[in-house]
Amino acid sequence: MTALGGTLTEEQAQVREAKEKLGNRLLILAHHYQRDEIAEVADFRGDSLELARRAAQAAAQYIVFCGVHFMAETAAILARPGQRVLVPRKDAGCFLAHSVNRAQLLDAWDRLSAVMDGERELLPVAYVNTTAEVKAFVGAHGGACCTSSSAKAVLSWALKRSPRVFFIPDQHLGRNTAHLLGIPEEEIALWDPRHPPEDLTPFKKKRLILWRGACNVHVRFLPEDVERVRKQHPGVRVIVHPECREEVVKLADEAGSTSYIVRKVTESPPGTVWAVGTEQRLVGRLAKENPDKTVISLADVPPYCSDMSLIRLSDLARVLSGLLKGEEPGRVEMPEEIANPAREALERMLEAVG
Ligand code: 13P
Ligand code: SF4
Repeated sequence: MTALGGTLTEEQAQVREAKEKLGNRLLILAHHYQRDEIAEVADFRGDSLELARRAAQAAAQYIVFCGVHFMAETAAILARPGQRVLVPRKDAGCFLAHSVNRAQLLDAWDRLSAVMDGERELLPVAYVNTTAEVKAFVGAHGGACCTSSSAKAVLSWALKRSPRVFFIPDQHLGRNTAHLLGIPEEEIALWDPRHPPEDLTPFKKKRLILWRGACNVHVRFLPEDVERVRKQHPGVRVIVHPECREEVVKLADEAGSTSYIVRKVTESPPGTVWAVGTEQRLVGRLAKENPDKTVISLADVPPYCSDMSLIRLSDLARVLSGLLKGEEPGRVEMPEEIANPAREALERMLEAVG
């Protein structure tokens, strides 16, 4: 914990006290996009897959999840009976996750199923960046969840079981993953929930149907950015998240999850110059933690995820102080009828990646 002028702030002291008192009954998980003040006090930082795995394996009674709401929901779905998952800011949503709701998905499923032979011809795959209700729909229809680091394994798992896959909701992750699996553009179709087409027969011939959703942070990176950094920094390595547009991923040297980006930058030789196409809190921390390298944002104006930034140390301190008083502030609860099928979708992902 970095103390200001050698003394801890009140919030830092509260967090330290709670960690000491709760010991191994407490596990603080943080996504890589969290502010430094949170990343510093977390027991573990990771990408979505690693955090889901940690939550599933945790023995702690309290899992405090510093990340956006769908990530805490995932932890709550995977938690054991009696375990509590708490989130410091319940209002930390995800723009991408909210690009699909259960009603829209049901509508799309009904229309597409009407021209296909339902489950035998179409299998849903949901990025974890979705609500628990959407995951539950996917689980109940035999499908699986995926994260950015498990998308390739899960999509190939799904394509072995069904001639067609409905990938929800990030069109860019879906398309970038399809290309890794050698699926050509002609076999991919886009489903626009706001303008469903009248004639659905063309969808019958496609292998992959992508929901028209995208992350408002990652779409900010453009092919021009790659061209600009290559001119400004000859020899630069460009690494991007697969939520970026296909044109950007194609021009980059590497693409992968947030943990993949952390690993690649950290393990690179001193003197390497990196331009990183992902959320700025992570890029800023990578620059600080790798002083022997140059780490810059791929964008001219680096984008932040406003939802991830909502969680401050004061929010975490409030949750931890509540736990010490026997309260459970920010507890994430999930009705069984949603948690059970959603868990099936998540467990299929965990099995597909081994
Ligand atoms: P990762 O699974 O790579 O951590 O990504 C999560 C996310 O929300 C990226 O925007
Ligand atoms: Fe969601 Fe994008 Fe923020 Fe990731 S960066 S949590 S996908 S809005």
